[in-house]
Order: sequence, then C-alpha cells, then structure tokens
Amino acid sequence: MSTTTNKKGRVTVPALRARKGGDPIVCLTAYTTPIAQRLDAHCDLLLVGDSVGTVVYGMENTLAVTVDMMVNHGKAVMRGSKTACVVIDLPFGSYQESKEQAFRTAAHILAETGCAAVKLEGGAELADTIEFLTRRGVPVMAHIGLMPQQVNTLGGFKSQGRDEATASKVMLDAKAVAKAGAFSVVIEGTVEAVARAITAEIDIPTIGIGASAACDGQVLVTEDMLGLFSDFTPKFVKRYASLGDQVADAAASYATDVRNRSFPADEHCYGMAKPGNLRAVK
Ligand code: KIV
Repeated sequence: MSTTTNKKGRVTVPALRARKGGDPIVCLTAYTTPIAQRLDAHCDLLLVGDSVGTVVYGMENTLAVTVDMMVNHGKAVMRGSKTACVVIDLPFGSYQESKEQAFRTAAHILAETGCAAVKLEGGAELADTIEFLTRRGVPVMAHIGLMPQQVNTLGGFKSQGRDEATASKVMLDAKAVAKAGAFSVVIEGTVEAVARAITAEIDIPTIGIGASAACDGQVLVTEDMLGLFSDFTPKFVKRYASLGDQVADAAASYATDVRNRSFPADEHCYGMAKPGNLRAVK
C-alpha cells in the first residue's frame, strides 16, 4: 500500500492535506458513474458538488438540493471511480442549524456512500462546526469566497475580494477554517491577490475556482469545461471541449437517419438462427 492511498487504492485525505505547496491538486466535479469513470484516472479528487442542482436538474440555484440527491449522486460517483478521493457537498439547510445537525448529515453521507470527506460553505461562522466534525472523524473541506448557497444574502453570484472589506473577510475566513481543522479549502470567485495571500498564509491546500493559478489546486465544474452548455460560460472557465455542439450534431444526424429510415440498418437488427424459423412466427 502506498502512503498516499488507502488499502483500496484511493487517494486519502491526509495525502491531499500533505500536498500543501507541492504538486497542484487536480479536482473536477462528478455526479454520475460514466463521468466518474472517465475522470477518475486524471483527478486526485472528485467533488460531488451541490452544483448538481443547476447542472443536472436545471435548478436556478443550489438551494433546493437535498441530502438524498447528494447521497444518490455520491453513490454513483463512488461506483464509477477507483482511485480519486471522493468529497461530497453538504447541501443548503443540512448543516447550518447546529454542529450536531451538521454531524448527523455528514455521518449519514459518509456511511451511505463510502466517500472520504464532506465539503461545506462557510468561513469563521462555521469554524465551530468544522472543529466539531473533524474531531469526530469527519474530514471537512471548507468553501469560502463566493459561496453560491449565500446567493440571496449576496444578492447574486458576486466575486469577492475586490474591496478591502471583502478581501479581509475572505482572509479571516481562510484562517478560521484552517485553524478549525479543515483539510483543504475551496476559494471561489476571489481576486488573485487575495487568493495568493491566503495560499501563502494558511497551512492547508487551497483549491481555486475563479481564484487564479496561485492556489494549491484547481477545481472546475466538469460540464462547464466540457462545453456542454450553450448559454453563459463564467469568465474563469476554460473550455477543453465543445461537447454541447457534438451532442446537438449527433441528435440531428440520428433524427435524419430515423426520418429517412436509414437507421436502423441491417447490422443493427437481429436475425433468426435459421431462416426457416420464420414459419414458427404466428
Ligand atoms: O458545487 C460545486 O460544484 C462546487 C464547486 C464549484 C467548487 O462547490
């Protein structure tokens, strides 16, 4: 057994924690078995994000995502992956009420899915909860900066750290979650100088999304980087493929083939073992 993987060959939380300042941590979101199968070998960490609500279910934001949804998608990703460390988001309303509520939700998700850790959105205000969980065997990845579950209090999805007030809030949040025992922290939608300063300041890996290459690792929503959406692509996303166009082209070709009866062709049809068997069909 390597020191970076567990007996089943998966990257462990301590191994990721130890990557601070080392080789960048590669992370992508995954919600389904076939996507997890494709990503697994290339990623240190697969995040079953609550972005599943907007990406897969077409919701306007992530607020209506449930624990059951996270468990089901978490199980699918665990089935599809072998080596990546799988982390699952705690959805809105499942952990903010109390540290006890957070523990119950996290323990349920860990037990049901077999994932290695949970992620929660929040900084200094969630430090007690992070400490409570980590001391009781639940590894926590924190998420600070732009927090999509705060969409209503922020009045939209707004990048953070552009002014002194939000810059120092993100820094204080980073220090608080690191002190509370988070093994890593996602920094979302935060200006480069702030993400760089945080990465230099705290002793846990920072995983950036829209927070510059200064972070210890990067995460993107897989469907964004695959170009599956035809509408808005956030500034921080690099498209590595145009799968949305390929899906539409494939559907158009299929529709043409069905309409002109060129699909299914002979090679897609079942034949009889003996042509004479046709007489048996009444
Ligand atoms: O829900 C999610 O997918 C996330 C990532 C974008 C970091 O939180």
